[in-house]
Amino acid sequence: MPQPPAPLLHAQGLTKRYGQHTVVQDVSLQVARGEVLGLVGESGSGKSTVARMVLRLVEPTAGSVHFDGIDVLRAGKGQMKAMRRRMGVVFQDPYGALNPRMRVRDILAEPFQIHGLQHLHGMPLEEKLHAMLAEVGLETSALGRYPHAFSGGQRQRINIARALALRPELLVLDEPVSALDVSVGAQVINLLQQLQRTHGLACLFISHSMPLVRYLCDRVAVLRGGELVETGPVLEVCERPQELYTQALIAATPSFVPAALP
Ligand SMILES: Nc1ncnc2c1ncn2[C@@H]1O[C@H](COP(=O)(O)OP(=O)(O)OP(=O)(O)O)[C@@H](O)[C@H]1O
Ligand SMILES: [Mg+2]
Repeated sequence: MPQPPAPLLHAQGLTKRYGQHTVVQDVSLQVARGEVLGLVGESGSGKSTVARMVLRLVEPTAGSVHFDGIDVLRAGKGQMKAMRRRMGVVFQDPYGALNPRMRVRDILAEPFQIHGLQHLHGMPLEEKLHAMLAEVGLETSALGRYPHAFSGGQRQRINIARALALRPELLVLDEPVSALDVSVGAQVINLLQQLQRTHGLACLFISHSMPLVRYLCDRVAVLRGGELVETGPVLEVCERPQELYTQALIAATPSFVPAALP
């Protein structure tokens, strides 16, 4: 029997304590290449803390994270920088994530400069920036403008373009549409789905909405009070939730999904 391929992302036993307070307890997750894993739970259940530990923006109290077999928590500075290129991230707040004093041109060019990759993809930078904007459905004229000139949905598109700049293998999305109006959010979800499929991206998609997770994800992990209570293929979990908590999440969330929109 051939061995199944190793997961792209493998988190084991992640735990985070702040003083006496344990906010994440023994959480293990796997995301295969090209797979979309939903991480769902009510507010305060520890979703963002898990995402931040995976990205090593928060140091876990215990546990390990492997990305493509590399021990993320033991990686040195150079190795970490090389790994950051391979992981994109989009946060919930499309306003806070963009530097208001930078033009879109500089925001999108920054990842290339940080990594000394101005010649990546064999394309001049200007051409690359145009392609990046087109990919997220924005006009070239956006390059000369500042973030305040854009709506929430447009800003999130800029964040997505930047997250994809270096062609990452994994995209971490922490409630990317929860700050947006329903119809604008649905458009951004459709864009994410299209980009995920085009690039064969692996995603960790964080949400409190089961219908959205069902629409976008292959598998789902359900977090309650910092602990995983249920994991499985998304349709299985949505059709036959084993936990009352999961049932409540399914019942509580308004069933907004892009497909339901005109
Ligand atoms: N730096 C910190 N210091 C102390 N407590 C923290 C810190 N960061 C998060 N917490 C606590 O950890 C718990 C989990 O927070 P987290 O932000 O991970 O939840 P979440 O599931 O992302 O919630 P939301 O859906 O509201 O974004 C919360 O009780 C929060 O108050
Ligand atoms: Mg959060």
